[in-house]
Amino acid sequence: MSSSDDVLKSLVSHAKEYGFVFPSSEIYDGLSATYDYGPYGVDLKNNIKAYWWKAMVQIHTNLVGLDSAIFMHPTTWKASGHVDAFNDPLIDNKDSKKRYRADVLIEEYLEKIRLKIEKEVEKAAQRFGDSFDRDMYLKTNARVLGYAEEMDQVRGKMKAALEAADLESLRQLIVDLGIVCPLSGSKNWTEVRQFNLMFATELGSVSGEASTIYLRPETAQGSYVNFLNVQKSARMKIPFGIAQIGKAFRNEIIARQFIFRMREFEQMEMQFFVRPGTEMEWFEYWKNFRIKWHSVLGLGSQNYRFHDHIKLAHYANAATDIEFNFPMGFKELEGIHSRTDFDLKAHETFSGRKQQYFDPELQESYIPYVVETAIGLDRMFLAVMSASYTEEKLEDGSERTLLALPRWLAPVKLAILPLLKKDGLPELALDIFKKLRLDYTCQYDEKDAIGKRYRRQDAIGTPYCITIDHQSLEDGMVTLRDRDSMSQERIPIQDLKGWLHQRLDMSVLLEQLT
Ligand code: GAP
Repeated sequence: MSSSDDVLKSLVSHAKEYGFVFPSSEIYDGLSATYDYGPYGVDLKNNIKAYWWKAMVQIHTNLVGLDSAIFMHPTTWKASGHVDAFNDPLIDNKDSKKRYRADVLIEEYLEKIRLKIEKEVEKAAQRFGDSFDRDMYLKTNARVLGYAEEMDQVRGKMKAALEAADLESLRQLIVDLGIVCPLSGSKNWTEVRQFNLMFATELGSVSGEASTIYLRPETAQGSYVNFLNVQKSARMKIPFGIAQIGKAFRNEIIARQFIFRMREFEQMEMQFFVRPGTEMEWFEYWKNFRIKWHSVLGLGSQNYRFHDHIKLAHYANAATDIEFNFPMGFKELEGIHSRTDFDLKAHETFSGRKQQYFDPELQESYIPYVVETAIGLDRMFLAVMSASYTEEKLEDGSERTLLALPRWLAPVKLAILPLLKKDGLPELALDIFKKLRLDYTCQYDEKDAIGKRYRRQDAIGTPYCITIDHQSLEDGMVTLRDRDSMSQERIPIQDLKGWLHQRLDMSVLLEQLT
């Protein structure tokens, strides 16, 4: 088993043991790619949502919210192209009977070559020491250039095959590259077929084809069909955006890697309506804003990278992913897409209703262009959990499991702990608890030795523990223990609120985005 598998396995078991994520309907052996969020998971999720919502809707005066229904008129999905084009190219291995996405097999092949380049660079960096010039090396080293050339060729062939929906060439590429099934190790592949990812269901009151409706595969279409409702009711002027958080459903074939790829998941999406011709400016603006939103959380800038799409979705004229270094490597966390006027135009055609905006400055009507930011809430949850999870060996030889969550997102912000369960300590601790819980999610805990209580809080990511001891009764001061450094300092009870505000309030985090 590779170490990335080990990390993911530890994370899955930690998430279950400490009430973050449970497999769905576990007593019936679970349902694949479906998960339930436990007591701490739901709070962490809500805090991520709140951070996104505040950063997008509260900070930007030209963004407003929407909560549209999961079910939409079936023509929506005809117009959006999802009925005809929301497909994955699938290939089966005849020996293992396992099904794969053909493009993912090729992407994984490319990733292996990329890692070979990284290895060459690492070796050279060691050889040359301080004088090593990474950029120069990448441009001049023959072996690296050979790998890069191979990657370009494979990418080019894959792009051409995907764009032409040429499934036979896609299969041929897999065969030519000698890609084997990770399970059986064999090259015994079927042909490549297209598979639509939408879940269909029946509307109760009608029968036949007309009754087929879909569970939405993205929230975006709810924002498009409400574009004029929102623009008029909220008196918005272009450029403006509609933000939405909600469930989406996809019948993913390769649904694995915990909550990374689920069949039921949640999206945080924003559609920004702009004057045609200005979309690339706004594409850049949102790229920069979104990466900033991630970076101020402090999960490590080395864990993010942009990846421009090879195959543009049927609606886009530019698209990039923000990839995150998950335990299984760099993978898509968020997409930023310039969707042109594709969706609104299609809805105008299919509905027969005008989807145009009258621009008072230009004195003309047009269908706006759209720049979209789309992030999976569950994926963000996994990014936060995986970057925060550590198993530490302490100086005294003991071990602790630490969830060093960004403080603002932690499900429990404070633990209030009387050192002993007597001598008036619980009374003072409860008094502090009752005051602080008005501002923060707090836990009061008087059970077990203090060290054991600290460990419990470390494991769920509580940033600060406040300990009340005998001295507190005399000098009105408490001990504040920092989760990450385990350092302790004494603070007067009356100063607690101000001290905590600077460290825990989301407004302080949001300020960094303005
Ligand atoms: N409206 C555009 C759209 O839906 P997408 O790239 O297909 O674009 C946006 O999805 C984000 O939703 C992705 O970046 C990812 O974070 C998340 N996402 C997509 N499919 C998912 C799945 N099966 N499970 C969990 N998250 C998913």
